[in-house]
Amino acid sequence: MATQSRTQEWPKVCKTLSRKELGDFQTPRELAFECAQVLAKIQRGTRRVLEPTCGEGSFMLAAASVFGPSIEMLGVEIQPAHAAAARRLLNCSATRDVDWRVEEGDMFRHDLSTLMWETEGPLLVLGNPPWVTLSDLGAMGSIHIPDRTNLRSVRGIDALTGESNFDVAEYIWMRLLTELRQEEPTVALLCKTSVARRVLALAAHLNLHVADSFLWRIDAKKAFGVAVDACFFAIQLDGASHNYRCRVFESLDASSPVSTMGLVDGALVADVDAHSASRHYDGSSPVEWRQGVKHDLASIMELRTDDGGKLQNALGEVVEIEDDWVYPLLKGSDVNAGRAPQRYVIVTQRSLADETRSLRHSAPKLWNYLQIHAEQFAARKSSIYRNRAAFSMFGIGPYTFASWKVVVSGFHKAPRFRLLGLSESKPVLLDDTSYFLPCESAAEAAILLSALNSGAATLLLRSLLFADAKRPVTKKLLQRIDLVAVLRHERVGVERDALSILQGVDQHLNAASISRIVDQLLQQWSSAQDALTFFSPSDLAAPEPVSVH
Ligand SMILES: C[S@@+](CC[C@H](N)C(=O)[O-])C[C@H]1O[C@@H](n2cnc3c(N)ncnc32)[C@H](O)[C@@H]1O
Repeated sequence: MATQSRTQEWPKVCKTLSRKELGDFQTPRELAFECAQVLAKIQRGTRRVLEPTCGEGSFMLAAASVFGPSIEMLGVEIQPAHAAAARRLLNCSATRDVDWRVEEGDMFRHDLSTLMWETEGPLLVLGNPPWVTLSDLGAMGSIHIPDRTNLRSVRGIDALTGESNFDVAEYIWMRLLTELRQEEPTVALLCKTSVARRVLALAAHLNLHVADSFLWRIDAKKAFGVAVDACFFAIQLDGASHNYRCRVFESLDASSPVSTMGLVDGALVADVDAHSASRHYDGSSPVEWRQGVKHDLASIMELRTDDGGKLQNALGEVVEIEDDWVYPLLKGSDVNAGRAPQRYVIVTQRSLADETRSLRHSAPKLWNYLQIHAEQFAARKSSIYRNRAAFSMFGIGPYTFASWKVVVSGFHKAPRFRLLGLSESKPVLLDDTSYFLPCESAAEAAILLSALNSGAATLLLRSLLFADAKRPVTKKLLQRIDLVAVLRHERVGVERDALSILQGVDQHLNAASISRIVDQLLQQWSSAQDALTFFSPSDLAAPEPVSVH
């Protein structure tokens, strides 16, 4: 293979790159061997193997023993020392009759369609490209940046890969799938599960001829000492198919898949079977989910009580401010664990548009406290505070102060919805890791909670939710639960459960009252729906300055 010509300075430059920039975490040999073995079950007649970032050669050795000896193998590696180590490793008995070579080269710049092979026949691309995002590289000031012009020839890819969390592995995946597609290869790489998901979605958006795909989860903590959800992901291309359904296995030695993820109406769902059984409830919520408050200054805005019952911030300062501006607070982990509030949060506004200067007169002690910490407020990094009132917050509006709420944490794998009432006679606030539905009464909250806990909503959530995502539960996901459809189909169970939820919070209503409230809610939601179809949605959209909700 003719690799990119580099200057004689390259080995020196390469030495200046950090392990993190190069995504340099060598795969343990046993893991590479297990991956090759699992591939042998789905991949027949392999004649050529490409390891695009071969490092010290674990995958090449594994491929030689599992697919050899009648194969041609080519490894490329940017670091000369690793390439040399790979050559030493491959000079062993397992590869005696295998035609292999390891070349120094840069996958970010090489044109893959010019690879030279002596052999013909099925091509397998196998390995473990670097796991590092472009924004990580940017933050490190790295010069080791993929050349994205290589992807430009693929129509539509620019918009799809423009995100800052675009991963180097994703770039390598897309180059392999697009530049080698004429060869109809199987591409199988270790990567983060988030990368695998985006690659499958990109393949579908680009209409690539995917014949089949498989995802086996791996234990990245054990193999690489990193706490990320990772997998061995394989895509088989052919010249005609459009199969964007991927079987998901819990481990490399699982005998059958736990689910099939795939594209439904252009969007990826975690479990296509669960989705087809619950698609009736996949629509849009008649009520808007809200996110908790955001202030980016926990050490000053969040308080606890000291032994003497006085409010204290995380800097150890006693905080004496007007009571009207302090509310009980639940963090996401408290929400998930079902804990009662143990902290408080200061609010500086009642709604997003409020200016804060008038606090000087309406709440002088709070104003004084804010002045003492004005520098920290001004130093908040997030651009959402730019051009906004001093000390401003987000996630604040009349909904924030609803007495009853149905809440859920965004960061937990299995969503646990909870009902929240007043605490110390005040509404309980949430931080921005949680979402909630503001409710007008305990009965409304109990009905919504019971609808969200129903079999219908649970199945829909299971089908949509990627438990290994950074934030598995998002506003977008929650907003897809059509509570009208859920309530209509599960009405009997929802009303029964709502009654017992209410008893649990000491609110006693009879079955007829609950049923009347369900009728009212359904009526209210369908008139809101009618109004929405009558006016254009843009007429009604409240001006929301940033997308934190
Ligand atoms: C995660 S390690 C895996 C190495 C090997 N594939 C394995 O599984 O053991 C990633 C490898 O990619 C190499 N690498 C990083 N950037 C590269 C590039 N642009 N071209 C070729 N190799 C690169 C690193 O030096 C490192 O050896």
